[in-house]
Amino acid sequence: MLQATSAERLVQEFGGRAVSDHPLFLEMRSQPVDHAALWILLANLELGISSQFVVWLARAIEAIDDRRIASLIAKQLNDELGNGEFPEIHSVLLQRFVRALERWRPANADDAVFQPGLRLRASEDALFGSDAYTMVGALMTSEIFASKMDRCLGDEIRRQNQIELGALRWLELHETLEIEHAGDSLELARLVPAREAALEATTHGAREQWNVLWRFLDEVLEQIRRVRASAPSTT
Ligand SMILES: [Fe+2]
Repeated sequence: MLQATSAERLVQEFGGRAVSDHPLFLEMRSQPVDHAALWILLANLELGISSQFVVWLARAIEAIDDRRIASLIAKQLNDELGNGEFPEIHSVLLQRFVRALERWRPANADDAVFQPGLRLRASEDALFGSDAYTMVGALMTSEIFASKMDRCLGDEIRRQNQIELGALRWLELHETLEIEHAGDSLELARLVPAREAALEATTHGAREQWNVLWRFLDEVLEQIRRVRASAPSTT
């Protein structure tokens, strides 16, 4: 049997971690569906990644010297941009999803509610402005994390039927696509050269990305709890 490279071991390690255990999803599952909480999560996700994700992917393609890795990332970039079908551009679909949730935006949601998204955008911008293999590592775990997070989100959405069905296209697409992209993560890992510097940068990017996304969910949960606690009493 071939010896797994350490980049492949990273994919195995993160593939074995659960996102469904995050306190945000534990809390969501233990309660009736809270559309206001879903709005807070999705609006922050949109703010954090939507406008810049294609730019970050393009930066990774520009920085990487291995055309095979660039080819895998370009596949993802093309998906993000809807393969030439403008209404299928992911940022357009996510905006539609968030707009459909807007009617549950709590009246007391102030600007602070968007802090998790702003911090996510700044962290990602820093990660995708660094070393080529740091970006490769970050892409590996972001796809693994996203596939797990989208599943949790899908499970929540299936517990309710109040959201207009057309607005769920983003989620339907991502529940399938992210699994494919998460599979690409293993392919990416296999292409990381066995040089110490490349492996170190990949490991750093992979761990940093997982931590950034986990912390994003921590902060979203904090905002959900803060908005709930400060809601005017209805009694
Ligand atoms: Fe996407």
